[in-house]
Amino acid sequence: MTDMSVGRERHVQAQGAAPLISMRNIHKKFGSLHALRGASLDVHAGEVVALVGDNGAGKSTMVKVMAGAHMATSGEYDFEGKPVKINSPTDANALGIQTVYQDLALCSNLDAVQNLFLGRELTGSGLFGRRIKRAECEVKAREVLSRMRLGNLSLTRPVGAMSGGQRQNIAIARSILWTPKVVILDEPTAALSHSAAEQVGDLIRRLADQGLGIVVVSHDIHNFVVNATDRIEVMRLGANAASFRTGDVTGEQVVNAMVGGNEGVNLAG
Ligand SMILES: Nc1ncnc2c1ncn2[C@@H]1O[C@H](COP(=O)(O)OP(=O)(O)OP(=O)(O)O)[C@@H](O)[C@H]1O
Ligand SMILES: [Mg+2]
Repeated sequence: MTDMSVGRERHVQAQGAAPLISMRNIHKKFGSLHALRGASLDVHAGEVVALVGDNGAGKSTMVKVMAGAHMATSGEYDFEGKPVKINSPTDANALGIQTVYQDLALCSNLDAVQNLFLGRELTGSGLFGRRIKRAECEVKAREVLSRMRLGNLSLTRPVGAMSGGQRQNIAIARSILWTPKVVILDEPTAALSHSAAEQVGDLIRRLADQGLGIVVVSHDIHNFVVNATDRIEVMRLGANAASFRTGDVTGEQVVNAMVGGNEGVNLAG
């Protein structure tokens, strides 16, 4: 993973233009609870951005606003340099923003192909038509999985019988079928072993190398965030607390910024 970072930097800078996503001064209130207090986040093509912070810092709320699952109370949201109004996940999907939620939303009793095409099978008429479509779906699934270098995943085993890492990869592959520009992952390594987490890191790196912007919410600072991302945005109490280039910091420095010491206490008071 490490030797890619130089190429990565070049790729990001080559984009030159506006970020894919620029969210600025985002506020979100849930009744009297002020969950986001002027938070900002940019996502460029070709980069993996980590969004980190303590429990309740506002990370999930921020990515839900990004994904159209929540509406911001106020703030600015630009996509590819133009102001957009995202009122629903459908609006976000239409722009090319896909989200892989922590529960993955996979059906355990279905196989990889069925899960990849869940809810969007091209249904043919009659048994013959359906069989043709299954064949088409398998070809497409094989193509996407091999592009992601996941060609050894079984297409026919129920995903319930697969490992957590394999299921995570299928959930990411499903988001990629929509040829998105941005993929958001909420805690993709939470339930994974060290080596499975590394594989997810490799996978999102390959996606970024293909020009996607990746946003990853993670508590796994020491193993995952410092090894698998390009930039780290630290949130605290609904706002940005610190911003790092991943290569410039240690896990310890990131954790310190998350906790915030006395400064955090003052802000909370
Ligand atoms: N739907 C909601 N209704 C009311 N309050 C909410 C809602 N969603 C989040 N909150 C509150 O907003 C704040 C930020 O929550 P959020 O889930 O964004 O934090 P987080 O950084 O993702 O935390 P964690 O690391 O625990 O997942 C918290 O105080 C939370 O209780
Ligand atoms: Mg969360």
